[in-house]
Amino acid sequence: MAQHRPADIAKIARQIYRSGPPIMRKLQHWRPMICPYHILVDQVPTGARVLDVGCGAGLFLGTLAATNRIGGGLGFDSSAPAIEMGNSMTGELPQANDVSFECLDATRPWPEGAFDLISLIDVMHHVPPAAQRGVFAKAAARTAPGKWFLYKDMARRPFWRATANRLHDLVVAREWINYVDLQDILSWGTEEGLTVHARQEIDMLWYRHELILFRRPQ
Ligand SMILES: C[S@@+](CC[C@H](N)C(=O)[O-])C[C@H]1O[C@@H](n2cnc3c(N)ncnc32)[C@H](O)[C@@H]1O
Repeated sequence: MAQHRPADIAKIARQIYRSGPPIMRKLQHWRPMICPYHILVDQVPTGARVLDVGCGAGLFLGTLAATNRIGGGLGFDSSAPAIEMGNSMTGELPQANDVSFECLDATRPWPEGAFDLISLIDVMHHVPPAAQRGVFAKAAARTAPGKWFLYKDMARRPFWRATANRLHDLVVAREWINYVDLQDILSWGTEEGLTVHARQEIDMLWYRHELILFRRPQ
C-alpha cells in the first residue's frame, strides 16, 4: 500500500512551487492528482541518487528531496522554461539538498555521473517514434549492475483512456503524441539485459498509467 496519498504530494507541490508563471505553477500543484507520484516515490530506494530524464519542472526530484527520500539528483529536460522553474524551485527545498536541473534533449549525450536510479516519467510518448528505442537504450545503458530504471508512461489501451490523454496533450502540450506499446517496452528491457522487478497499472480519473521498475542484475 502506498505510503502517501495524491493529496499529500499535491500539498508538497504547493509548498515547493511558490513562484514562476501562474499556469505552470498550477500545473505542478495539480499534477499529483492525475499522475501517481504517490506510488512512484515509493519505488526509489532511500538515499538514492536519481537521474530524472525529461524532468519537466522537476516535480519528481522536488518531491523526493522535500521528503528526504534521496541523497541527491539531477534532472534534465529539453524545455528551457520548465528547467528555469525547476531551478527556482530548488530554493524551497531543505538546505542540504543536492538537486539540480539542466536544459538538454534526451537524444543528445546525457550528463556524466553515477546514479542509483534513472527515471523516465511520461516522456516516451513525447519522443518521436524514430528516437524512442534509442532513448530507452540510453536509460538502460546508464542503469549499472544492481541499480534501477523506473519507467512510467500513459497506457495505449483502452482506447477511450488513451484518447482522453491524447486530448490532454493536444491542449496542454499542443502535441500529437506517440504511444509505445507496453509489450515493446518489456521486450526492449529484456534486450538490454534488464529484469522486471515490479509492474503496475494505475487509473487516476480517466488516465491509465503503466509503471515498470527495471533492475540490472548484479
Ligand atoms: C508530461 S511531461 C513530464 C515531465 C516530468 N517527467 C513529470 O512527470 O512531471 C513530458 C516532458 O518530457 C519533456 N521531453 C519531451 N521530449 C524530450 C526530449 N527529447 N528530451 C528531453 N525532454 C523531453 C518535455 O519537455 C516535458 O517536460
